[in-house]
Amino acid sequence: MAAFTIILWILLNLSYTLAEEEIQYIHGMENQISVLPDSSCKCQKELTKWDKLFVMLEDSQMKQNILQYTTDEVCKVELQSIHSEIRHFVANFAETYMSAIINANLHITTQMDKKLAYTLEEISETKVEIESEQKNILQQLLLVSQDLSSRLKKLEMAWQTAVDMKDQRLSLDIKKIVPENLETTLNSFATQLQQSKAELTRCQKWSDKHILPSGCDMALVFPMRSKKIYASVHPDDMTLSSFTACIWVKATDLLEKTIVFSYGTKRNPYQIQLYFNQSSAVLSVHSDRSKMVAEGIVALGQWTYLCATWSAEDGNATLWVNGKLAAASSGMAVGYNIPNGGLLQLGQESNGCCTGGGFDKNLAFSGKLTGFNIWDRVISKHEMQYLTSGEDSCSIRGNVVAWSVTEILPHGGAEFIYN
Ligand SMILES: *[C@@H]1O[C@H](CO)[C@@H](O)[C@H](O)[C@H]1NC(C)=O
Ligand SMILES: *[C@@H]1O[C@H](CO)[C@@H](O)[C@H](O)[C@H]1NC(C)=O
Repeated sequence: MAAFTIILWILLNLSYTLAEEEIQYIHGMENQISVLPDSSCKCQKELTKWDKLFVMLEDSQMKQNILQYTTDEVCKVELQSIHSEIRHFVANFAETYMSAIINANLHITTQMDKKLAYTLEEISETKVEIESEQKNILQQLLLVSQDLSSRLKKLEMAWQTAVDMKDQRLSLDIKKIVPENLETTLNSFATQLQQSKAELTRCQKWSDKHILPSGCDMALVFPMRSKKIYASVHPDDMTLSSFTACIWVKATDLLEKTIVFSYGTKRNPYQIQLYFNQSSAVLSVHSDRSKMVAEGIVALGQWTYLCATWSAEDGNATLWVNGKLAAASSGMAVGYNIPNGGLLQLGQESNGCCTGGGFDKNLAFSGKLTGFNIWDRVISKHEMQYLTSGEDSCSIRGNVVAWSVTEILPHGGAEFIYN
């Protein structure tokens, strides 16, 4: 009896968490978009080692797609076996407990149908706003998740019925006649549920890996750390006495100084820098000694929205992480004017130290960047919160650098990927 109570408790907890996660999963999906393979032009004369690298990267994109297909298949096969397990159970006990099963099923099915209908209604409301291509991908994912959730619910129902029946028998004190293998069957259900939960988590992780931030349909990929891999940005005028710079960042690795973007002139290569020092973000203006730090704010492999502001008036500077103020400082480069005519770069600094412009492999960024904008003013707290509220961070445009408008040229193995 005690053993059975423990199993019952575990199963109840499990089914509760499962139901919760499914709902969150379905709700979360409205913002999730898969990255489709890039179909860039391969019409070059001769394959350089970078071209070969591209081909390898495209191959790996294909492999990811195959992996997704396989994952879906695994989910299906898993669910089929659950289904047959249920049928096996029903066949075994149908004769004795048919009416109990039918009644309980009817009740639970009605409840589940209501819940499912409600969820579907919610989904279809949000679906309307999604672009058609993204919609197809989302719908496929939704179908998989709905299928999974309805099958899991059936399994829970059957299990609940069995538990109810067993409780009845116990209360009638005719424990002896409860078939020996009922407990075994219940345990096997528990295992099946656990496996299905693991599959669901795996499917979820896959889709997490393949999305861009909400509203972004293009990103720059820096496939590895290399002094040749960076992107140059070409705004009309970089004369600034104040600025706001925002960017979405997803880093694969971080060293003591990993450049997100840098602006430098021949005379002073350190006009503006935004870089990571391990998990901290650092903004420097005018000189590498004039800087501020937001500590411990970046997690590898996660999209983070960074904004930096600075004003020469009183040298106030701020760093914002995912819409929240992470650090503030004042007296930074008071009265300084950032001159035009330098190099603005993503993923690398040009410090002019040596031949080749001082590009250093250990300063290079690896990962993905998107939604890069610069304004020639400090935007208000209200605007900042609007920017980072989610939907528009890639469709807004700065007046100095405007994402999707200002020319950005990838160098080395850097390239654009599209949804
Ligand atoms: C990185 O952080 C460490 C520890 O806070 C500090 O000693 C070091 O100077 C920093 N490096 C840069 C380039 O900011
Ligand atoms: C600069 O920051 C100080 C405090 O840190 C604040 O009192 C002041 O109003 C700020 N200046 C501007 C122009 O926001």
